[in-house]
Parts: sequence; C-alpha cells; structure tokens
Amino acid sequence: MTNMFKIQPLIAQSAIAGIANRKFCQQMIDLGAGMVTLGGFPADRLNFEASLKMEERGRMECIPPVNESRFSEWLIQNLLLYKRMKNQRTAVNLRIVNSDQITEKWLKSLDGKIDFLELNAHCRQKEVLQIGGGESLLKDLKKLNHLLTNISKSLQKTKIGIKIRGCSVGDKDALIEILEKHQVNYIHIDSMLKGKNIADIQLLQSYCSSTDIPVIGNNSVRCIEDVKKMLKIGAIAVSVARPLIKYPNFIAELIQQLDG
Ligand SMILES: Cc1cc2nc3c(=O)[nH]c(=O)nc-3n(C[C@H](O)[C@H](O)[C@H](O)COP(=O)(O)O)c2cc1C
Repeated sequence: MTNMFKIQPLIAQSAIAGIANRKFCQQMIDLGAGMVTLGGFPADRLNFEASLKMEERGRMECIPPVNESRFSEWLIQNLLLYKRMKNQRTAVNLRIVNSDQITEKWLKSLDGKIDFLELNAHCRQKEVLQIGGGESLLKDLKKLNHLLTNISKSLQKTKIGIKIRGCSVGDKDALIEILEKHQVNYIHIDSMLKGKNIADIQLLQSYCSSTDIPVIGNNSVRCIEDVKKMLKIGAIAVSVARPLIKYPNFIAELIQQLDG
C-alpha cells in the first residue's frame, strides 16, 4: 500500500458543521488531537444554496463568501492551523456534488495548506440529499467516481479522504473498488448502528478486513474502552464529535488514557 498515512496520537476530531471552525480545531490541535477536521463546508454552487436553506431553518452552518478576493482572504482567516507535533494531521470536510467554479476556488486555495480534503458522503440533511449530495453519493457510485476524478485533477499536494455513513452504503465492494482505484487515503466511517446510539463494530471490522485503505472509526466513542475496541478490530485511528461540543477537553483525556 503506497498511500498509508500516519496520525499520532490515534484520536481524531470528526467534522462538526457550524462549530468546527479554525478556533475550535486549533484548540483540538493544542489539546493534542492526532487529526482535526474543519467544517463541513459547502464547496459548490448547489451545496452553497443548500447550506443557505439549512441556515434559514436554523441549522448552524459556516458559509464562506463566494466573491473571489474575499474568498481567499476568508480561507486564510478561517482555515490556517498551526500543528504542535509532527504527526498531527489536518483535514477539511467538504460537501461537493458537482465540481464547479466554487469547487475550483476551494481546491486551488486548499492545496498544500491542509493535509486532507475529506469528501463528505455522510450528510443526510434533506437539502443536501435533494441535490444528490452527502450520503446520496454512496448510492450513486458513478457520480462519486466522476467527482473523485475531477477533484484529484485539481489537487497536487493535498490528499483525498472520504467520510461515509456506513449504514447507508449500498454495495460495499463496489464502493471500495472505486476508492482504491482513486487511491483515496483514508475512509472515515460513521459506523452508527442504524436507529441506535451505538457503533456497529462488525460493520467497521468488515471494512478494515476488506481493504488496505486506512479506516478511521467513528460513532458513539464515549470512553477509552470504545476507542480500544475500534483499534483492536483494525481501525488506524478513532474519531469523536458530539462530546467535544460541550467538553473539548474530552479529546485530551482519551489521548492520555490511551497513552497510559
Ligand atoms: C452538529 C453536527 C454537525 C456535523 N457536521 C458534519 C459534517 O459537516 N460533516 C461530516 O462528515 N460529519 C458531520 N457530523 C457528524 C460527526 O462528524 C460524527 O460522524 C457523528 O456525530 C458521530 O460521531 P460522535 O458519536 O462522536 O458524535 C456532524 C455532527 C453533528 C452533531
């Protein structure tokens, strides 16, 4: 496997739209996270419009200005992070369904400033599903394939990862085939057991044993035993989101307990 990547410590912060801004993610880095994920952000016209609708109905979103000069300024002000340790990694979670001029701006400005573009195949907000984005991409593998081709053409230094909602995948083998073909650097799996507030460890394990692409395990990690369970079945790292909103230091506690 040529694209194997290392993150250290093995605990990551997962995307939290509207909350995981530069300040939040810098705090995560300072607390020792192995990887932080900015966003998610809308990164094409259709997703931009979908985000405006979501914001209108009260969902917290972070919507960059599309205007050319203000956009680059915005990116610098909102995405630049300072690592504290060599193996810490930075990612930006982007919602893209149709790579266009806005996407180009994102990719051009991101390239080399961040380690990973994390393509969002996870969101299930109705406005995003209506345009065929988020987790809908998991059922439209032709579109996903096309999107990955376009995105990789525009990135020289920043690598591609993908966030998926495990329980929404239709054909797992076909999905993995596409991700391997595009040399996607990691699969970040929200392994929520459908309808429950627990992780489906068997589902996570089935990905770990089906591909050499590194898998980041996610969902309902609430104590160190949850972390260890995911690492034991082959995840290369484990991520957390919701507990960090009210208690950011949770990430430092997990890291300390894993080391100890
Ligand atoms: C308010 C909120 C916003 C989120 N936004 C995103 C997002 O933009 N992109 C994404 O891939 N996941 C997003 N997620 C999902 C989380 O990254 C994570 O997969 C999910 O919450 C399960 O992990 P947890 O149990 O540690 O919270 C969001 C979750 C919450 C609660």
